[in-house]
Amino acid sequence: MPYAPEDDEVPNPLRPGLRAETAPEPCAVVIFGASGDLAHRKLVPALYNLAVGGHLPGAFAVVGVAKTGYAHDEFVQDMREAVGKFSRTRPIDPEIWQDFAAGMRYVCGEFDDPDTFARLRNTLEEADRSRATRGNRLFYFATPPSAFPSLLERLKEAGLIRSPLESGFTRVVIEKPFGRDLASARALNRLVLQTFDERQVFRIDHYLGKETVQNLLVFRFGNSIFEPIWNRRYVEHVQITAGEELGIEGRGHYYEEAGVLRDMIQNHVQQLLCLCAMEPPIAYDADGVRDEKLKVLRAVETFDSQERVAADVVLGQYAPGSIAGADVPGYQQEKDVAQGSRTPTFVAARFNVRSWRWDGVPFYVRSGKRMPKRATEIAVHFRRIPHQLFGEGATQPNVLIIRVQPQEGITLRFSAKVPGERYRPRTVSMDFRYGTTFASATPEAYERLLLDAMRGDQTLFTRGDEVEAAWKIAGSILKYTESPAFPRPYLYEAGSWGPRQADQLLARDGRAWRRL
Ligand code: BG6
Repeated sequence: MPYAPEDDEVPNPLRPGLRAETAPEPCAVVIFGASGDLAHRKLVPALYNLAVGGHLPGAFAVVGVAKTGYAHDEFVQDMREAVGKFSRTRPIDPEIWQDFAAGMRYVCGEFDDPDTFARLRNTLEEADRSRATRGNRLFYFATPPSAFPSLLERLKEAGLIRSPLESGFTRVVIEKPFGRDLASARALNRLVLQTFDERQVFRIDHYLGKETVQNLLVFRFGNSIFEPIWNRRYVEHVQITAGEELGIEGRGHYYEEAGVLRDMIQNHVQQLLCLCAMEPPIAYDADGVRDEKLKVLRAVETFDSQERVAADVVLGQYAPGSIAGADVPGYQQEKDVAQGSRTPTFVAARFNVRSWRWDGVPFYVRSGKRMPKRATEIAVHFRRIPHQLFGEGATQPNVLIIRVQPQEGITLRFSAKVPGERYRPRTVSMDFRYGTTFASATPEAYERLLLDAMRGDQTLFTRGDEVEAAWKIAGSILKYTESPAFPRPYLYEAGSWGPRQADQLLARDGRAWRRL
């Protein structure tokens, strides 16, 4: 049957037959945990910026639900302050704000109290009438995971969930952490799928909303020259770094439970690995992309023995130090962190991807808090030239660096002749920078992801089986590292690139981390 665009789709003349920007249908976004940090820093500013960009549906409401006893006006004022402080675009445009704020509602209550949900239901029905939101609801769980079961139960009880077959959509966005190991992720998946159909579930990993991460797909599959060399014949190894200058930012309770493996590796870093290692999907759609990522996760060798973990995983924890000239405390001096805590704030590990394309090409990953600077990148190191024409060691292997943040862009390192009479090669860079190439401002990850959830596009969200496969890998490490018999994390000075054992991990294989 020929493709026929739906009414609200803008036909795309350059790609006939492919879906173009789809405007979301009218809807109400319900934020559970509206008085929390995520709503203030990310969600409400992202929705406001979607309004600024003209991406919100004409009929729209945002309903906050939380325990804090705000009066309606206090809630609106609090959100205005949050937007004033954290929005990508500032100052606030009064006209846009007025329109946006007119759609705000607040419901105060406990997440396990049926009365909260009865009032939420009334509020949503009122929004359907006054804001024409047509019964479409996007529920956003921006709460600690302990609240998820009662949220699911109470939403169902209150009759607030429609099946995908009924008119009017009901969708749920679930924040990380999605479980704390494979067993709890499976249990949570079961619970969520007792209430929702998988097509209604949007498990969020905000890294997938980053422009540079999506560009990895365009870079790999929108160009013909890279794909033929993107494999074990040409690639020698890959390094993925996700370093942050920040410490735990007052989140001691959460971080003590999570540590770097749950906080960064199971989700963000493994997602970067997937996009870097995956096969070309048959289509750029939710299942096309997620099927290929799942295959990568299945191909990653799990860490099945104490010896393997001891050999291929290095854990660290930051000690006091200094960053950009300012003294910072060690992890154990942070608020809500236990004296003698064994929680790792840094990890370096060697991942093996056992597939036709990648067998024998190590993927080294590292992530840490209190590094000398913020730097997230994927560096693809190519093989040496087979015959050294210009003298042993005169040229360095090529490296392709995909900078996720900051200074977003892509750099290719290659050898060039230094001008002069002799053949003296030097490594030089060919650079693409978002900042200078594109005039348009880059939207925040949450803007893109909220918009996709409103549109019903699941491509940049993780599917249930994918989350479980990701836990299988991270969980296989945690199983050993969380046993009391496993050595404590090595201390590293805040402001360094982790313990020296992380360097030894690569040195053992005759390699070194890229200097950032
Ligand atoms: C979050 C982690 O998921 O990602 C934080 O919980 C981390 O600990 C953050 O700081 C990093 O995100 P970004 O977008 O700043 O790289």
